Amino acid sequence: MTSLTLPLEAMPTGAAPIQSDLLGVYKRAPMKLVRGEGVELIDETGKRYLDFVSGIGVNALGYGDPGLERAITEALSSGLIHSSNLYRTDPGEELAKELTRLSFASKVFFCNSGAEANEGAFKFARKWAKSTGNSAKTEIVALRGGFHGRLFASLAATDRPSYRAPFRPLAGGISICERDLTELSAALDAETVAAVIVEPVQGEGGVRVLDASFLASLRELTRKKNIALIFDEIQCGLGRTGHLFAYERIGVVPDMVTLAKPLAGGLPMGAVLMTEAIGAEMNAGEHGTTFGGGPLVASVARYVLSRIADPSFLATVKENGAWLREKLGTLAEKSNRIRAVRGVGMMWGIDVVEPAAEVVRRAWANELLTLTAGDHTVRLLPPLVMGRADLECGVDRLMSAIEG
Ligand SMILES: Cc1ncc(COP(=O)(O)O)c(C=O)c1O
Repeated sequence: MTSLTLPLEAMPTGAAPIQSDLLGVYKRAPMKLVRGEGVELIDETGKRYLDFVSGIGVNALGYGDPGLERAITEALSSGLIHSSNLYRTDPGEELAKELTRLSFASKVFFCNSGAEANEGAFKFARKWAKSTGNSAKTEIVALRGGFHGRLFASLAATDRPSYRAPFRPLAGGISICERDLTELSAALDAETVAAVIVEPVQGEGGVRVLDASFLASLRELTRKKNIALIFDEIQCGLGRTGHLFAYERIGVVPDMVTLAKPLAGGLPMGAVLMTEAIGAEMNAGEHGTTFGGGPLVASVARYVLSRIADPSFLATVKENGAWLREKLGTLAEKSNRIRAVRGVGMMWGIDVVEPAAEVVRRAWANELLTLTAGDHTVRLLPPLVMGRADLECGVDRLMSAIEG
Protein backbone atom coordinates (compact mmCIF):
# COMPACT_ATOMS: atom_id res chain seq x y z
CA MET A 1 0.00 0.00 0.00
CA THR A 2 1.15 3.51 -0.57
CA SER A 3 1.75 4.06 3.10
CA LEU A 4 4.34 1.29 3.23
CA THR A 5 6.36 3.61 1.22
CA LEU A 6 9.90 4.20 1.07
CA PRO A 7 9.04 6.27 -1.99
CA LEU A 8 11.41 5.66 -4.82
CA GLU A 9 11.95 9.36 -5.32
CA ALA A 10 12.97 9.60 -1.68
CA MET A 11 15.67 6.96 -2.04
CA PRO A 12 19.33 7.96 -2.17
CA THR A 13 20.22 9.64 -5.43
CA GLY A 14 21.97 7.32 -7.80
CA ALA A 15 19.71 4.40 -6.88
CA ALA A 16 19.17 2.38 -10.04
CA PRO A 17 15.65 2.52 -11.50
CA ILE A 18 13.81 -0.62 -10.54
CA GLN A 19 13.16 -3.02 -13.41
CA SER A 20 10.50 -5.59 -12.71
CA ASP A 21 7.59 -7.31 -14.37
CA LEU A 22 5.50 -6.80 -11.24
CA LEU A 23 2.53 -4.49 -11.67
CA GLY A 24 3.66 -1.07 -10.54
CA VAL A 25 1.15 -0.52 -7.76
CA TYR A 26 3.84 -0.27 -5.09
CA LYS A 27 6.74 2.09 -4.80
CA ARG A 28 9.14 -0.50 -3.50
CA ALA A 29 12.31 0.28 -1.61
CA PRO A 30 15.30 -0.57 -3.80
CA MET A 31 17.08 -3.07 -1.53
CA LYS A 32 16.29 -6.75 -2.02
CA LEU A 33 15.52 -8.70 1.12
CA VAL A 34 16.91 -12.19 1.30
CA ARG A 35 16.66 -13.23 4.97
CA GLY A 36 14.95 -12.49 8.23
CA GLU A 37 16.52 -13.17 11.62
CA GLY A 38 14.80 -12.35 14.89
CA VAL A 39 13.70 -8.74 14.48
CA GLU A 40 16.01 -7.89 11.61
CA LEU A 41 15.71 -8.12 7.84
CA ILE A 42 18.84 -8.66 5.77
CA ASP A 43 19.35 -7.52 2.20
CA GLU A 44 21.41 -9.13 -0.55
CA THR A 45 24.48 -7.08 0.36
CA GLY A 46 24.33 -8.34 3.94
CA LYS A 47 23.00 -5.05 5.35
CA ARG A 48 20.76 -5.59 8.38
CA TYR A 49 17.65 -3.50 9.00
CA LEU A 50 15.96 -3.33 12.36
CA ASP A 51 12.30 -3.88 11.60
CA PHE A 52 9.73 -1.41 12.95
CA VAL A 53 7.28 -2.46 10.21
CA SER A 54 6.88 -6.24 10.61
CA GLY A 55 5.42 -6.60 7.13
CA ILE A 56 2.77 -3.97 8.06
CA GLY A 57 1.76 -5.65 11.29
CA VAL A 58 2.01 -9.24 10.04
CA ASN A 59 5.24 -10.64 11.46
CA ALA A 60 4.27 -10.44 15.11
CA LEU A 61 6.70 -13.23 16.01
CA GLY A 62 9.56 -11.75 14.00
CA TYR A 63 11.63 -13.93 11.67
CA GLY A 64 12.77 -17.52 12.07
CA ASP A 65 10.63 -18.30 15.11
CA PRO A 66 11.43 -21.98 15.74
CA GLY A 67 7.88 -22.83 16.88
CA LEU A 68 6.40 -21.23 13.79
CA GLU A 69 8.78 -23.15 11.55
CA ARG A 70 7.91 -26.37 13.39
CA ALA A 71 4.20 -25.70 12.99
CA ILE A 72 4.66 -25.24 9.24
CA THR A 73 6.82 -28.36 8.89
CA GLU A 74 4.43 -30.49 10.93
CA ALA A 75 1.44 -29.26 8.94
CA LEU A 76 3.24 -30.04 5.69
CA SER A 77 4.05 -33.56 6.84
CA SER A 78 0.34 -34.46 6.66
CA GLY A 79 0.48 -33.86 2.92
CA LEU A 80 -2.67 -31.80 3.32
CA ILE A 81 -1.86 -28.24 2.35
CA HIS A 82 -5.36 -27.79 1.03
CA SER A 83 -8.47 -29.93 0.91
CA SER A 84 -11.37 -27.50 0.13
CA ASN A 85 -14.12 -26.35 2.42
CA LEU A 86 -16.26 -29.19 1.08
CA TYR A 87 -14.59 -31.47 3.63
CA ARG A 88 -13.95 -31.33 7.36
CA THR A 89 -10.41 -31.02 8.71
CA ASP A 90 -9.19 -30.60 12.27
CA PRO A 91 -6.98 -27.49 12.08
CA GLY A 92 -9.73 -25.10 10.95
CA GLU A 93 -12.29 -26.49 13.39
CA GLU A 94 -9.80 -26.34 16.27
CA LEU A 95 -8.73 -22.81 15.39
CA ALA A 96 -12.35 -21.65 15.25
CA LYS A 97 -12.98 -23.31 18.62
CA GLU A 98 -10.01 -21.52 20.14
CA LEU A 99 -11.03 -18.14 18.70
CA THR A 100 -14.58 -18.49 20.04
CA ARG A 101 -13.27 -19.65 23.43
CA LEU A 102 -11.06 -16.59 23.66
CA SER A 103 -13.64 -14.06 22.45
CA PHE A 104 -17.31 -13.02 22.49
CA ALA A 105 -17.93 -14.89 19.22
CA SER A 106 -19.87 -18.07 18.51
CA LYS A 107 -19.02 -18.55 14.85
CA VAL A 108 -15.95 -17.91 12.71
CA PHE A 109 -15.50 -17.58 8.96
CA PHE A 110 -11.98 -17.94 7.55
CA CYS A 111 -10.76 -16.23 4.40
CA ASN A 112 -7.45 -15.08 2.96
CA SER A 113 -6.94 -11.39 3.64
CA GLY A 114 -8.17 -8.39 5.56
CA ALA A 115 -10.24 -6.88 2.76
CA GLU A 116 -11.94 -10.23 2.23
CA ALA A 117 -12.74 -10.48 5.93
CA ASN A 118 -14.40 -7.05 5.83
CA GLU A 119 -16.33 -7.86 2.65
CA GLY A 120 -17.56 -11.04 4.34
CA ALA A 121 -18.60 -9.10 7.43
CA PHE A 122 -20.61 -6.67 5.25
CA LYS A 123 -22.48 -9.58 3.69
CA PHE A 124 -23.13 -11.24 7.05
CA ALA A 125 -24.39 -7.94 8.48
CA ARG A 126 -26.78 -7.43 5.56
CA LYS A 127 -28.17 -10.94 5.79
CA TRP A 128 -28.70 -10.56 9.53
CA ALA A 129 -30.22 -7.08 9.21
CA LYS A 130 -32.66 -8.21 6.54
CA SER A 131 -33.77 -11.02 8.83
CA THR A 132 -35.54 -8.33 10.89
CA GLY A 133 -38.07 -8.35 8.04
CA ASN A 134 -36.92 -4.98 6.73
CA SER A 135 -35.38 -5.53 3.30
CA ALA A 136 -34.20 -1.90 3.17
CA LYS A 137 -31.87 -2.38 6.14
CA THR A 138 -28.72 -2.78 4.04
CA GLU A 139 -26.44 0.25 4.42
CA ILE A 140 -22.91 0.07 5.82
CA VAL A 141 -21.46 3.13 7.57
CA ALA A 142 -17.70 3.59 8.02
CA LEU A 143 -15.80 6.31 9.87
CA ARG A 144 -13.67 9.24 8.77
CA GLY A 145 -10.01 8.19 8.72
CA GLY A 146 -10.79 4.48 8.43
CA PHE A 147 -9.02 1.98 6.21
CA HIS A 148 -10.72 -1.32 5.46
CA GLY A 149 -9.10 -2.61 2.27
CA ARG A 150 -9.02 -2.12 -1.46
CA LEU A 151 -11.63 -4.47 -2.90
CA PHE A 152 -14.82 -2.84 -4.06
CA ALA A 153 -16.92 -2.78 -0.89
CA SER A 154 -13.93 -2.40 1.44
CA LEU A 155 -12.64 0.45 -0.75
CA ALA A 156 -16.00 2.21 -0.49
CA ALA A 157 -15.57 2.03 3.30
CA THR A 158 -11.98 3.34 3.12
CA ASP A 159 -11.56 7.06 3.66
CA ARG A 160 -8.61 7.84 1.41
CA PRO A 161 -9.49 9.99 -1.64
CA SER A 162 -6.42 8.92 -3.63
CA TYR A 163 -7.32 5.24 -3.26
CA ARG A 164 -10.96 5.85 -4.18
CA ALA A 165 -10.94 8.44 -6.96
CA PRO A 166 -9.55 6.34 -9.84
CA PHE A 167 -12.14 3.61 -9.32
CA ARG A 168 -15.42 5.47 -9.12
CA PRO A 169 -18.20 4.52 -9.16
CA LEU A 170 -17.51 2.66 -5.92
CA ALA A 171 -19.78 -0.01 -4.48
CA GLY A 172 -23.09 1.50 -3.40
CA GLY A 173 -24.76 1.31 -0.02
CA ILE A 174 -21.61 2.28 1.88
CA SER A 175 -20.97 5.75 3.30
CA ILE A 176 -18.44 7.48 5.51
CA CYS A 177 -19.45 9.46 8.58
CA GLU A 178 -17.47 11.81 10.83
CA ARG A 179 -16.10 10.38 14.08
CA ASP A 180 -18.71 12.34 15.94
CA LEU A 181 -21.62 11.02 17.98
CA THR A 182 -24.07 13.70 16.90
CA GLU A 183 -23.34 13.03 13.22
CA LEU A 184 -23.46 9.30 13.80
CA SER A 185 -26.78 9.56 15.63
CA ALA A 186 -28.22 11.23 12.55
CA ALA A 187 -26.54 8.89 10.05
CA LEU A 188 -27.48 5.67 11.81
CA ASP A 189 -31.04 5.26 10.64
CA ALA A 190 -32.45 2.11 12.21
CA GLU A 191 -34.57 1.46 9.12
CA THR A 192 -31.78 1.54 6.54
CA VAL A 193 -28.44 0.87 8.26
CA ALA A 194 -27.26 -2.72 8.73
CA ALA A 195 -23.80 -2.13 10.20
CA VAL A 196 -21.11 0.30 11.27
CA ILE A 197 -17.46 -0.63 10.76
CA VAL A 198 -14.76 0.89 12.96
CA GLU A 199 -11.07 0.35 13.60
CA PRO A 200 -10.69 0.75 17.38
CA VAL A 201 -7.22 2.07 16.57
CA GLN A 202 -7.10 3.56 13.08
CA GLY A 203 -3.84 2.47 11.50
CA GLU A 204 -3.54 3.90 7.99
CA GLY A 205 -5.53 6.94 9.09
CA GLY A 206 -2.66 8.19 11.26
CA VAL A 207 -2.59 5.79 14.25
CA ARG A 208 -5.62 7.25 16.03
CA VAL A 209 -6.64 5.49 19.21
CA LEU A 210 -10.40 5.97 19.29
CA ASP A 211 -11.72 7.07 22.63
CA ALA A 212 -13.17 4.28 24.80
CA SER A 213 -16.13 6.46 25.77
CA PHE A 214 -16.84 7.28 22.10
CA LEU A 215 -16.83 3.57 21.25
CA ALA A 216 -19.02 2.76 24.27
CA SER A 217 -21.55 5.37 23.14
CA LEU A 218 -21.43 4.02 19.60
CA ARG A 219 -22.09 0.56 21.02
CA GLU A 220 -25.10 1.89 22.90
CA LEU A 221 -26.40 3.67 19.81
CA THR A 222 -26.01 0.63 17.55
CA ARG A 223 -27.64 -1.64 20.11
CA LYS A 224 -30.61 0.71 20.44
CA LYS A 225 -31.05 0.81 16.66
CA ASN A 226 -30.37 -2.88 16.10
CA ILE A 227 -27.34 -2.12 13.92
CA ALA A 228 -24.36 -4.50 13.85
CA LEU A 229 -21.10 -3.08 15.20
CA ILE A 230 -18.06 -4.42 13.32
CA PHE A 231 -14.59 -3.85 14.75
CA ASP A 232 -11.91 -4.06 12.10
CA GLU A 233 -9.00 -5.40 14.17
CA ILE A 234 -6.98 -6.40 11.15
CA GLN A 235 -4.12 -4.10 12.16
CA CYS A 236 -4.80 -3.40 15.84
CA GLY A 237 -5.97 -6.86 16.93
CA LEU A 238 -4.17 -10.06 17.93
CA GLY A 239 -1.92 -8.65 20.60
CA ARG A 240 -0.86 -5.36 19.02
CA THR A 241 -2.49 -3.27 21.77
CA GLY A 242 -1.25 -5.58 24.53
CA HIS A 243 -4.63 -7.33 24.60
CA LEU A 244 -5.51 -10.30 22.46
CA PHE A 245 -8.35 -8.28 20.94
CA ALA A 246 -8.40 -4.49 20.80
CA TYR A 247 -12.01 -4.47 22.02
CA GLU A 248 -10.87 -5.97 25.34
CA ARG A 249 -8.74 -2.92 26.08
CA ILE A 250 -11.76 -0.63 25.86
CA GLY A 251 -14.34 -3.01 27.28
CA VAL A 252 -16.74 -2.60 24.36
CA VAL A 253 -17.99 -5.83 22.81
CA PRO A 254 -18.87 -5.66 19.09
CA ASP A 255 -21.05 -8.02 17.04
CA MET A 256 -18.26 -8.92 14.62
CA VAL A 257 -14.48 -8.65 14.62
CA THR A 258 -12.38 -8.95 11.50
CA LEU A 259 -8.82 -10.25 11.74
CA ALA A 260 -6.00 -10.96 9.29
CA LYS A 261 -2.39 -9.73 9.20
CA PRO A 262 -0.56 -11.72 11.95
CA LEU A 263 -3.09 -14.53 12.22
CA ALA A 264 -1.15 -17.21 10.33
CA GLY A 265 2.38 -15.95 10.96
CA GLY A 266 2.86 -14.48 7.47
CA LEU A 267 0.77 -17.00 5.54
CA PRO A 268 -2.34 -15.34 4.09
CA MET A 269 -5.35 -15.70 6.34
CA GLY A 270 -8.30 -13.58 7.43
CA ALA A 271 -11.18 -14.29 9.77
CA VAL A 272 -14.57 -12.92 10.74
CA LEU A 273 -15.67 -13.57 14.31
CA MET A 274 -19.40 -13.12 14.90
CA THR A 275 -22.20 -13.53 17.39
CA GLU A 276 -24.54 -16.50 17.40
CA ALA A 277 -27.36 -14.31 16.07
CA ILE A 278 -25.40 -13.20 13.00
CA GLY A 279 -23.97 -16.64 12.34
CA ALA A 280 -27.43 -18.18 12.52
CA GLU A 281 -28.56 -16.20 9.47
CA MET A 282 -25.93 -17.58 7.09
CA ASN A 283 -26.79 -20.73 5.16
CA ALA A 284 -24.80 -23.11 3.00
CA GLY A 285 -23.87 -21.55 -0.33
CA GLU A 286 -24.41 -17.94 0.78
CA HIS A 287 -20.69 -17.22 1.14
CA GLY A 288 -17.50 -19.10 0.45
CA THR A 289 -13.84 -19.16 -0.51
CA THR A 290 -11.66 -21.82 -2.09
CA PHE A 291 -8.62 -21.36 0.12
CA GLY A 292 -9.99 -19.89 3.34
CA GLY A 293 -9.12 -21.77 6.53
CA GLY A 294 -7.21 -24.56 4.79
CA PRO A 295 -5.31 -27.09 6.93
CA LEU A 296 -1.85 -25.57 6.48
CA VAL A 297 -2.73 -21.97 7.31
CA ALA A 298 -5.08 -23.00 10.11
CA SER A 299 -2.41 -25.23 11.72
CA VAL A 300 0.05 -22.36 11.67
CA ALA A 301 -2.56 -19.92 12.99
CA ARG A 302 -3.26 -22.26 15.93
CA TYR A 303 0.39 -21.94 16.87
CA VAL A 304 0.46 -18.15 16.41
CA LEU A 305 -2.71 -17.75 18.48
CA SER A 306 -1.33 -19.95 21.26
CA ARG A 307 1.74 -17.69 21.46
CA ILE A 308 -0.07 -14.36 21.29
CA ALA A 309 -2.88 -15.34 23.66
CA ASP A 310 -0.37 -16.33 26.35
CA PRO A 311 -0.90 -13.83 29.21
CA SER A 312 2.84 -13.41 29.76
CA PHE A 313 3.32 -12.59 26.05
CA LEU A 314 0.58 -9.94 26.24
CA ALA A 315 1.97 -8.59 29.52
CA THR A 316 5.33 -8.01 27.84
CA VAL A 317 3.65 -6.20 24.91
CA LYS A 318 1.85 -3.99 27.44
CA GLU A 319 5.06 -3.24 29.34
CA ASN A 320 6.96 -2.43 26.15
CA GLY A 321 4.03 -0.31 25.00
CA ALA A 322 4.12 1.65 28.26
CA TRP A 323 7.86 2.12 27.82
CA LEU A 324 7.37 3.36 24.25
CA ARG A 325 4.67 5.80 25.42
CA GLU A 326 7.02 7.24 28.01
CA LYS A 327 10.08 7.31 25.76
CA LEU A 328 8.38 8.75 22.67
CA GLY A 329 6.45 11.25 24.79
CA THR A 330 9.64 12.53 26.42
CA LEU A 331 11.44 12.76 23.08
CA ALA A 332 8.48 14.61 21.54
CA GLU A 333 8.57 17.19 24.33
CA LYS A 334 12.23 17.93 23.60
CA SER A 335 12.01 17.99 19.81
CA ASN A 336 10.62 20.82 17.73
CA ARG A 337 10.40 18.42 14.78
CA ILE A 338 7.68 16.30 16.40
CA ARG A 339 4.15 17.66 16.63
CA ALA A 340 2.42 14.76 18.37
CA VAL A 341 2.78 11.13 19.40
CA ARG A 342 -0.17 8.73 19.46
CA GLY A 343 -0.53 5.04 19.99
CA VAL A 344 -0.83 2.06 22.25
CA GLY A 345 1.07 -1.18 22.75
CA MET A 346 3.28 -1.78 19.73
CA MET A 347 1.44 0.58 17.38
CA TRP A 348 2.63 4.18 17.30
CA GLY A 349 2.28 7.23 15.09
CA ILE A 350 4.60 10.21 15.27
CA ASP A 351 3.47 13.42 13.59
CA VAL A 352 6.50 15.14 12.14
CA VAL A 353 6.81 18.62 10.71
CA GLU A 354 8.31 17.51 7.40
CA PRO A 355 6.89 14.90 5.02
CA ALA A 356 6.88 11.55 6.85
CA ALA A 357 8.35 9.85 3.79
CA GLU A 358 11.53 11.92 4.28
CA VAL A 359 11.93 10.60 7.82
CA VAL A 360 11.20 7.05 6.64
CA ARG A 361 13.93 7.45 4.02
CA ARG A 362 16.50 8.71 6.52
CA ALA A 363 15.55 5.95 8.97
CA TRP A 364 16.08 3.46 6.16
CA ALA A 365 19.54 4.93 5.59
CA ASN A 366 20.09 4.42 9.36
CA GLU A 367 19.13 0.74 8.90
CA LEU A 368 15.74 1.10 10.50
CA LEU A 369 12.52 0.23 8.67
CA THR A 370 9.49 2.39 9.45
CA LEU A 371 6.41 3.35 7.44
CA THR A 372 4.07 6.24 7.02
CA ALA A 373 0.40 6.66 7.93
CA GLY A 374 -0.57 9.75 5.98
CA ASP A 375 1.60 12.62 4.83
CA HIS A 376 3.06 13.68 8.17
CA THR A 377 2.82 10.60 10.36
CA VAL A 378 5.61 8.06 10.76
CA ARG A 379 4.12 4.74 11.84
CA LEU A 380 5.85 2.13 13.98
CA LEU A 381 4.64 -1.48 14.02
CA PRO A 382 7.52 -3.51 15.44
CA PRO A 383 7.23 -7.29 15.77
CA LEU A 384 5.43 -7.99 19.06
CA VAL A 385 8.43 -10.04 20.20
CA MET A 386 10.84 -7.12 19.94
CA GLY A 387 12.72 -6.72 23.22
CA ARG A 388 13.58 -3.53 25.05
CA ALA A 389 17.18 -3.27 23.79
CA ASP A 390 16.09 -3.43 20.14
CA LEU A 391 13.21 -1.03 20.77
CA GLU A 392 15.65 1.39 22.35
CA CYS A 393 18.10 1.04 19.47
CA GLY A 394 15.27 1.59 16.95
CA VAL A 395 14.00 4.68 18.77
CA ASP A 396 17.55 6.12 18.78
CA ARG A 397 17.87 5.55 15.02
CA LEU A 398 14.42 7.01 14.49
CA MET A 399 15.25 10.13 16.49
CA SER A 400 18.38 10.74 14.47
CA ALA A 401 16.25 10.36 11.32
CA ILE A 402 13.70 12.83 12.69
CA GLU A 403 16.34 15.33 13.74
CA GLY A 404 17.92 14.99 10.26
C1 LIG B 1 -7.40 -1.96 9.45
C2 LIG B 1 -7.21 -2.68 8.14
N1 LIG B 1 -8.27 -3.23 7.54
C3 LIG B 1 -8.15 -3.89 6.39
C4 LIG B 1 -6.94 -4.03 5.76
C5 LIG B 1 -6.84 -4.76 4.45
O1 LIG B 1 -6.13 -5.94 4.64
P1 LIG B 1 -5.52 -6.71 3.37
O2 LIG B 1 -4.41 -5.86 2.85
O3 LIG B 1 -5.04 -8.01 3.95
O4 LIG B 1 -6.62 -6.90 2.40
C6 LIG B 1 -5.81 -3.45 6.35
C7 LIG B 1 -4.50 -3.54 5.67
O5 LIG B 1 -3.60 -2.78 5.93
C8 LIG B 1 -5.94 -2.76 7.57
O6 LIG B 1 -4.90 -2.19 8.16
